[in-house]
Amino acid sequence: MKFKSRITELLGIDYPILQGGMRWAARAELAAAVGEAGGMGFISAHTQATPQALGVEIDRARALSKRPFGVNMTLLAANTGLDYAGYAATIIERGIPAVETAGGNPAEFIEQFKRAGIKVLHKCTTVRHALKAEQLGADAVCMDGFECAGHPGEDDIPALVRYFVEKHSRRMNRQVETIPAETLDLLVRYPWPGNIRELENLIERAVIVSPGPVLRVPHSELKPPTETGGDSLTLSAAERDHILKALEATNWVLAGPRGAAVRLGMKRTTLQSRMRKLGLFKGQRRK
Ligand SMILES: Cc1cc2nc3c(=O)[nH]c(=O)nc-3n(C[C@H](O)[C@H](O)[C@H](O)COP(=O)(O)O)c2cc1C
Repeated sequence: MKFKSRITELLGIDYPILQGGMRWAARAELAAAVGEAGGMGFISAHTQATPQALGVEIDRARALSKRPFGVNMTLLAANTGLDYAGYAATIIERGIPAVETAGGNPAEFIEQFKRAGIKVLHKCTTVRHALKAEQLGADAVCMDGFECAGHPGEDDIPALVRYFVEKHSRRMNRQVETIPAETLDLLVRYPWPGNIRELENLIERAVIVSPGPVLRVPHSELKPPTETGGDSLTLSAAERDHILKALEATNWVLAGPRGAAVRLGMKRTTLQSRMRKLGLFKGQRRK
């Protein structure tokens, strides 16, 4: 029996069940399987190192299932160095029917997706952000519950900070009771790339080093990552850059004693497989 609801009609699916984007987990196989079961799966764009690799992942899902699936674009400030404009272009080029935006303000993308006839679902944790998404033209909102499956929403942070301060003070027999407003403000604005675990670890260390009842958090640890920061380069982005450098230096010759494979110390077939995985094709240039 099929369901009929505003969501099934909006997305052309049998059941109002959505599989939200999950970094490193929401790949072609999962999205295709959810689609086959009658719901809608979302491939996670930022699991793919580049827009080209996202295109390859979309093609893989299409080879697995004829059912519709969408793409998740997580716009977290912590996700630096990602080519979001490129991901959006791939989504539009490939004719994806629905996008789940999350983690940040989707204003920049909603308009271009809507122009391309793509349904936009914005996922958030507060009514305030849901109303904003509606105002920006989102077709639907997905409301995640408290702490958003590991990544804390900014409104969740003060309560989590108080909870962890209390927990670790009790455990270590300390009397840390006051959280300075300036510290709390920095904690709320920090993007927490390591999720709630990172928040708890930081509070635990802060409780240990606080000499008295006032929580002392080294403010230098709460600087948001920047686009240029070396730490923000992911392993696959670094690998991609290194391979591209070798390809450019050898004029895209892969095999032979002067080819890129020898230069990189790998077999030609391994290089070809890495290139496919990273979405590298002849003529691409390093940024
Ligand atoms: C392991 C894991 C990774 C996730 N990664 C993302 C992500 O990258 N982007 C995103 O928008 N949501 C992410 N989520 C949130 C899920 O898409 C979903 O919104 C959330 O789990 C709430 O649904 P649930 O209550 O059914 O778990 C992640 C969730 C899990 C469990």
